[in-house]
Amino acid sequence: MEKFEKYNYQTEESEAKLKEFISKVNELSTQGFISESASAEVVAAQLHNTKLKHRLAVLQRAIAEEEKKLGINSSTGSSSGKAAKVGGAPKKMSATVRDRMSIRDYLTEVFTHALRTAFPDLEDKTAAVAPTNEKYVAKFGDYQCNDAMALCKIYKDKGVKKSPLEIAQSLADVVNKELASNPNLAKVVDKIEVAKPGFVNVFLSRVYAGEQLKDIVLNGVQPPSLDKRLRVVVDFSSPNIAKEMHVGHLRSTILGDAICRLLEYLGHDVVRLNHVGDWGTQFGMLIAHLQDTYPDYLTKSPPIADLQAFYKQSKKRFDEDETFKKRAYQCVVSLQKFEPDYKKAWDMICDVSRRDFQKIYDRLNVTLTERGESFYQKHMEELVPYLEKKGLLELDDGRKIMWGDDRGLIPMTIVKSDGGFTYDTSDMAALKHRIEHEKANWVVIVTDLGQGVHFKLLGECGKKAGFLDPNKTRLDFVGFGVVLGEDKKKFKTRSGDTVKLSELLDEGLRRSLDKLKEKNRHTELTPTELSEAQQAVAYGCIKYADLSHNRNLDYVFSFDKMLDDRGNTAAYLLYAYTRIASIVRAAGVNIDDLVKSAHTTPVSLEHPKEFALAKTLLRLNDVLTLVTRDLCLHHLCEYLYDVSTAFSEFYDNCYCIEKDEAGKIKKVHTGRLLLAEATARVMKKCFDILNINTVHKM
Ligand code: ARG
Repeated sequence: MEKFEKYNYQTEESEAKLKEFISKVNELSTQGFISESASAEVVAAQLHNTKLKHRLAVLQRAIAEEEKKLGINSSTGSSSGKAAKVGGAPKKMSATVRDRMSIRDYLTEVFTHALRTAFPDLEDKTAAVAPTNEKYVAKFGDYQCNDAMALCKIYKDKGVKKSPLEIAQSLADVVNKELASNPNLAKVVDKIEVAKPGFVNVFLSRVYAGEQLKDIVLNGVQPPSLDKRLRVVVDFSSPNIAKEMHVGHLRSTILGDAICRLLEYLGHDVVRLNHVGDWGTQFGMLIAHLQDTYPDYLTKSPPIADLQAFYKQSKKRFDEDETFKKRAYQCVVSLQKFEPDYKKAWDMICDVSRRDFQKIYDRLNVTLTERGESFYQKHMEELVPYLEKKGLLELDDGRKIMWGDDRGLIPMTIVKSDGGFTYDTSDMAALKHRIEHEKANWVVIVTDLGQGVHFKLLGECGKKAGFLDPNKTRLDFVGFGVVLGEDKKKFKTRSGDTVKLSELLDEGLRRSLDKLKEKNRHTELTPTELSEAQQAVAYGCIKYADLSHNRNLDYVFSFDKMLDDRGNTAAYLLYAYTRIASIVRAAGVNIDDLVKSAHTTPVSLEHPKEFALAKTLLRLNDVLTLVTRDLCLHHLCEYLYDVSTAFSEFYDNCYCIEKDEAGKIKKVHTGRLLLAEATARVMKKCFDILNINTVHKM
């Protein structure tokens, strides 16, 4: 597919210019191929400004929308498209806390009910409940409902005078009444308090926290019970055949995989699709060149070691040799008819790339099902009459185009003037297929933010065409920023080439080994342990660096930063985890015995630092539901860091084991060991979702 089709950025003022420009690009791609180097830079540069402007507008709109929906000012990241929100707060009262439900969600339901009861004239409002900043928990409770201020403004606009305090009190009255009559709520909430100027503060029950932690120790960390199991198609990684897989694809691979793992953990039915770029006119020249260089390709697998070089050679011939060019076009036609010899040649070319991609996936422990653009050839052919019948295609300079909601923007090109299909066509066909054949209730596509406009259009056109119903299918474009080098410029090698992912991972391994040696770990660990630690740190750090940054922003790739064992890095967290997991071992307690003791010994929660840690652990499901909403993994990373901080504070203040002067264990504090064990398990669950390996020793 022509890669520049995706640069569909536009603002009103530059519409005409851009339209002309993109049609030129189209023309170029129709005639042959846009050269990798110069024209790519020019295209990118020309569009960059427009792109940024547009991105800003999109983000601002999304933030405003989100704020309106939530009635609050917290908004981190946004998923584009007004998709059906799955798992949002219910309309009616529901004061039954379900199994391992997110406490924040539960309180949101409670306060939404209170809000609708106390202020029936504001019917469709949803309350916002947020965890209190750690520093103020003792004073202001564990969660807060701060809606009174916003409600006061709403009333003021209506000409009604009500103070925030008055409003907060009315909310609190309803909740207090519920608290007195509903044992379910009383189980979770100890008390609520109204504070100036209009906060309602919620204090969690120690008994409830104790029960939840006991559950974690006895049954492991379990997901909250699921309202509805969804079929989710996640389209991620998606590199292009015969081209180098670059850091953008790495980012897509890491983010997409973590999203899959989260949704799988929550119990959804996830289909992981690798939408590889394996179709388009460039395959014509590759096949023609293959026929010439390896004439026996039908019987003997061609030993192409360097597909990039092979690509360059065929491109050179294509540009310089008219007969070759004609043949290349002929090959495209034959390939698109799936003629066996051509299909075979194409398969072989794809295989070379596939093997390279697979090596990366194996190293990152990521699984994917390949279903590239080629898969949709038949569906693209069917799509055209389908859209035509609905009267949705327009002729424009020989192209067949389809408009989204806004005719001021750029349309989708469904059929090029030479009759070929584009990136737009394959994505329309793919979306239709995923909804109609895969029966997806939710489609997630993970690519760079530069493709935001393309996917916005896709959503709009899908709706217009009738196969995307936002009430039945949630569509999320999970965009991410550019990976930058330490010089804040596009990530490149010193010599200015694109960085080979395999070499990047090798460097990670090298650096993590250096780091371990610096700490003298090689003298204490066995060679196997050392190698396990090396890999856990290297791959863990690379993944975590990606996951812990807000995906909507560009981020600077720096081995030094990600391997630093202070601060919010995988190196630090893996050390913290290993230390916590070893506390039980150091106490000389058998882990099975410890687990059994949870039946009789309560998890220790008297000390404020114990209770603070416990409440942090209980926030796990709050965070998981939040990530499910906005698909921003950095919340989970921040949470993991919070857990390790809360643990340090607990551990510095509370003895788990007491030793005598000779270093002999005098007393084991089982209730605290249980708390340490619960912490280790919660952290392990987070690492699992992020696909970061932990080790016993490092
Ligand atoms: N191959 C594309 C690229 O390298 C990403 C494809 C993403 N998925 C999709 N359905 N368009 O940019």
